[in-house]
Amino acid sequence: MVKAIRIHEFGGPEVLKWEDVEIGEPKEGEIRVKNKAIGLNFIDVYFRKGVYKASTIPFTPGVEAAGVVTAVGPGLTDRKVGDVVAYAGNPMGSYAEEQILPADRVVPLPPSLDPIVAASVISKGMTAHMLVVRCFKVEPGHTVLVQAAAGGVGSLLCQWANALGATVIGTVSTTEKAAQAKEDGCHHVIMYKDEDFVSRVNEITSGKGVDVVYDSVGKDTFQGSLECLKPRGYMVSFGQSSGMTDPIPLTALAAKSLFLTRASIFSYTATRDELLEAAGEVFANIGSGVLRVRVNHKYPLSQAAQAHEDVESRKTSGSVVLIPDAINEHVECAPDWIIRFHIDPLSDPYYFAVDIRTKFSQCSFLAVDLKEAPSINDNTPTWKAMRDTGATEFSWALDSGGLPLKALFSIRMGNGKQFQVANNVIPVGWQPGASYPSSLLYH
Ligand SMILES: NC(=O)c1ccc[n+]([C@@H]2O[C@H](COP(=O)([O-])OP(=O)(O)OC[C@H]3O[C@@H](n4cnc5c(N)ncnc54)[C@H](OP(=O)(O)O)[C@@H]3O)[C@@H](O)[C@H]2O)c1
Repeated sequence: MVKAIRIHEFGGPEVLKWEDVEIGEPKEGEIRVKNKAIGLNFIDVYFRKGVYKASTIPFTPGVEAAGVVTAVGPGLTDRKVGDVVAYAGNPMGSYAEEQILPADRVVPLPPSLDPIVAASVISKGMTAHMLVVRCFKVEPGHTVLVQAAAGGVGSLLCQWANALGATVIGTVSTTEKAAQAKEDGCHHVIMYKDEDFVSRVNEITSGKGVDVVYDSVGKDTFQGSLECLKPRGYMVSFGQSSGMTDPIPLTALAAKSLFLTRASIFSYTATRDELLEAAGEVFANIGSGVLRVRVNHKYPLSQAAQAHEDVESRKTSGSVVLIPDAINEHVECAPDWIIRFHIDPLSDPYYFAVDIRTKFSQCSFLAVDLKEAPSINDNTPTWKAMRDTGATEFSWALDSGGLPLKALFSIRMGNGKQFQVANNVIPVGWQPGASYPSSLLYH
């Protein structure tokens, strides 16, 4: 039995249930993979709601993950136990501690690539590749419009289009997202909730229009996106985060002789060669620094419902990953650990993610229940300030009113089991604002 998220009926995030499932052993051509991280994609929301229909019900959602091979089916020679692999696309079912996959749908990970980063980028990166290389080949001198430029796909798309020499215009909903889009290579950022993006694109391009629009927002932007195109421009529709696009008559394309495609990564990575080529390009671009992967949000897998809620309410940017709770069971305290606290100021105020690093590599992810920590609560000025600014890192520089800080707290694993830290006392006399002690936890 493994733990997995299951959907028994379509609906809101609450239909995502944390259950035991039997996945069996791999058959011919299959492998069993223990997931280290799972990428959350907007398509998971469509399947949860029933906008896209899963072939069976109940089902486990999820189309992106990275992990370690734990068993191989009979006759397989090109995969072995211990291989670190990633997959994106079919079959659905990655919201699970372990899953069975066809061996020809996984790609080996370069050793330098952290599986958490891989799970954040394989599907979204291959989608960006499809868009800028295959649907419309971006070249120097092109002007491109990217809708939802700070999203998971949007962030990678802007970076890639910029690197190919295009002038990039991006739309976003908040100033924080605007700052991110700028960093990701957008030359112009439009706040499409406050400004009319069609007039702004017209202004920016001096009335010429753009060569291509990459539109994943759908209903709210589709018509305006068509208006932003120059004659013979390319409308690349690849999603509908705001709802299904209204049908348009073919004649709507006639006035400017526009091209229109509704692209899907599934048809661009259908063969093994296409899959390897797309993944290879993504990994190469990460290796060379063209793509910086923004793993902006991590949730324990059991809390997938919270993650869905945040993605749907447009609170997230960059990539969102789910970390199997069982991974936390491997965690042991070691005196040389450094603890950094990453806070998602938009999520439940009583939970935030803890990123524990050893001197070797990132090794785990936990959740801390602030209710257990009497010195840390919503009234703590620093905590409040962090929430107000929307910052995502918390330096543990708690304001203890000038007094030496002594706080007891427990670290709780995402699956609810207590992780007992012996003598978990923050050193008395440690001053607010000091840099992190290399041994925050005493044993
Ligand atoms: N065709 C394909 O093969 C393929 C593959 C991967 C992804 N996609 C599509 O690409 C899009 C992006 O996927 P993602 O996983 O990276 O998600 P995402 O972009 O991180 O999240 C969706 C973003 O869309 C924007 N948005 C605008 N109106 C919205 C609304 N009414 N509700 C929710 N969001 C809204 C929000 O950004 P702002 O707050 O800035 O508006 C939101 O952050 C999705 O539509 C997905 O289906 C398609």
